[in-house]
Amino acid sequence: MSAKIIDGKAFAAEVREKVAGHVSRLKEVHGITPGLAVVLVGDDPASEVYVRNKGKQTLEAGMNSYEHKLPEDTPEADLLALVKQLNADPAVHGILVQLPLPQHIDEEKVINAITPDKDVDGFHILNVGLLGTGQKAMVPCTPLGCLMMLRDHHGSLSGLNAVVVGRSNIVGKPMAQLLLRDSCTVTIAHSRTKDLADVCRRADILVAAVGRPQMIPGDWVKPGATVIDVGINRIPAPEKGEGKTRLVGDVEFDSAAQVAGAITPVPGGVGPMTIACLLANTVTACCRANNLPEPEGLTA
Ligand code: GUN
Repeated sequence: MSAKIIDGKAFAAEVREKVAGHVSRLKEVHGITPGLAVVLVGDDPASEVYVRNKGKQTLEAGMNSYEHKLPEDTPEADLLALVKQLNADPAVHGILVQLPLPQHIDEEKVINAITPDKDVDGFHILNVGLLGTGQKAMVPCTPLGCLMMLRDHHGSLSGLNAVVVGRSNIVGKPMAQLLLRDSCTVTIAHSRTKDLADVCRRADILVAAVGRPQMIPGDWVKPGATVIDVGINRIPAPEKGEGKTRLVGDVEFDSAAQVAGAITPVPGGVGPMTIACLLANTVTACCRANNLPEPEGLTA
């Protein structure tokens, strides 16, 4: 069998189109332009690329983008003061503080200083609690993107066995909560799980989010399963020339694609969905702030 390849790039383009549609209605009908503020501390090159892409896609969707670049040695108090200012700014509907932050800054303190309603990353402790109790929350972008692709492929997820490999606060745990909310039977596995191969083989839905290149081989995949590969790992690619690298996921794509019913590739799978869902969350936050109905097709 050869799996259907789930095209995250195309799916993300559709989400962005929906976002742009909601944005133009918000502007034309209500005179409101959603605004996203992104804060970057320091000059980590990977973070700079992410932030640039976020800003570009925010503007392309018709929203306002506010970028705040602070030096590496910014005192924690100054960052907290900026967050406070953005919390109070009515033109800002979403706030994202790019992680990781420099060592001297307490990440949790900064995340929890963001007004929960503007926390478009869904990392604030209140949003984590709301999601865990099945209430209306801001949902972390990567798991939201995975859920959208799963719902699109399966329709209903009810009753399916879902295994999430990885227990991070950013992906693994919120992913498990979302799958549970859609009535999956959910197992959270991780690097210490006993008989991990057997656990994975029981999965109708297998979400890999461990950050270990090609850790999950095809013979861990149940025939016909849907495999969502969240990993983005750079590995040496001597076949492309000396010193060259390539991106791979947490799943061994070639062998898994022989067995799975559907699979996301890396790159071009989950990755593009993350920023698309950040834009979606900004529109959602804007609608909620203005007591407007939830934007259709963009929420969990
Ligand atoms: N750094 C890498 N990914 C993310 C993300 O989704 N949100 C934030 N805030 N920082 C990140």
